[in-house]
Amino acid sequence: MPNGEFVVTPWQVDGVIDYDKLIKRFGTQRIDPAMRKKIVEAAGQDHFMLRRGVFFSHRDMGGIIDLHKKSKPFFVYTGRGPSGATHIGHLVPWIFAKWLQDRFGVNVYFQLTDDEKFFSKKGLSLDDTMGLARENALDFVALGFDPAKTKIVIDTQDIARLYPIAAQIAKRINFSNTKAVFGFGGETNIGMIFYTAIQSAMCYIEDAPVLIPLGVDQDPHFRLTRDVAPLLKKPKPALIHNMMMPPLHGGGGKMSSSESNSAIFTTDSPGDVKRKINKHAFSGGRPDIDEHRRLGGNPDIDIAYQYLRMFFEPDDAKLEEIRADYASGRMLTGELKAILIERVNEYLAAHQEARERARDHLDEYGLGP
Ligand code: TYM
Repeated sequence: MPNGEFVVTPWQVDGVIDYDKLIKRFGTQRIDPAMRKKIVEAAGQDHFMLRRGVFFSHRDMGGIIDLHKKSKPFFVYTGRGPSGATHIGHLVPWIFAKWLQDRFGVNVYFQLTDDEKFFSKKGLSLDDTMGLARENALDFVALGFDPAKTKIVIDTQDIARLYPIAAQIAKRINFSNTKAVFGFGGETNIGMIFYTAIQSAMCYIEDAPVLIPLGVDQDPHFRLTRDVAPLLKKPKPALIHNMMMPPLHGGGGKMSSSESNSAIFTTDSPGDVKRKINKHAFSGGRPDIDEHRRLGGNPDIDIAYQYLRMFFEPDDAKLEEIRADYASGRMLTGELKAILIERVNEYLAAHQEARERARDHLDEYGLGP
């Protein structure tokens, strides 16, 4: 990517994302202090990912909060395209979905798009993506969703429920629309071209307005859904977008399943985590210790610090102490990385236990054997 340029689509994130520019490009709204206050007041609690701007943008979030204030129902929907192991970035919107369920008592739907990843990934068979869907479901269930209020949908298994809605949507999106939004060309397989109707269909799985927490790369699908909603006489889906966790090696792009050294996977061992962070995490430190002590590190570009800020250190006071120590040069890169390694391994130990327990509970979320 030439300097300053970036691409964000559901299938490609490249370059260093300028989120202000992205908000303009996509036509979304920034979560400003007034909107944040509105969400926090309605929820009765703050969330560090909201406070720190990890969730930075939205569409019609105000409308959802207004509905809630009038005691009208809404539901939450999010998803995963099973292309490999789950990484920490995937968990961001799911953790927020769980918080929304806890705070607003809402139903949550989780879509596993095994069809999509079969269409979009050269090296994956349909059997592969169907198998990965169940593995990825474990990470979602491990977060503790209420089984009475949560349903997991796998596209190839639950298509009978989705198809009548998808057909209504597909009839109202023409090829020029999808081409303009996704950049498809003559070589694109027709599964990909139709697929957006399947991801959109979930917005109408319940007869109530939907709120979708999601990484901002998925926004283009729902731009199309929002365009067709009035034609279907349905409400437009509301969205709340999170930033993309950067890859371990820094630079552009995102933490990605298909690049194993860019990501911390939920199934990584303590040794994997230590090796990856020590070897690959981009450092905002100085080239030698003397200079570092004198000038301090730069937390803004330091991946270990950014992972703590975005995910692993919810306590503001502790985070600020780490930032101040690092920026002043009191803390060295190796020490900062050691803190991250410890936090990640604590988190993953608990997650992996919950993930294994989830194997016996998938049926409670509507998954067949
Ligand atoms: P997928 O599997 O690419 O990603 C699942 C969710 O994780 C988000 N995400 C990230 N967030 C932060 N940092 C990252 N590095 C990162 N990488 C991925 C994605 O934005 C997504 O929210 N087509 C979808 C599956 C899907 C879906 C949905 C997603 C179906 N319906 C509704 C969101 C909402 C997909 O392939 O996601």
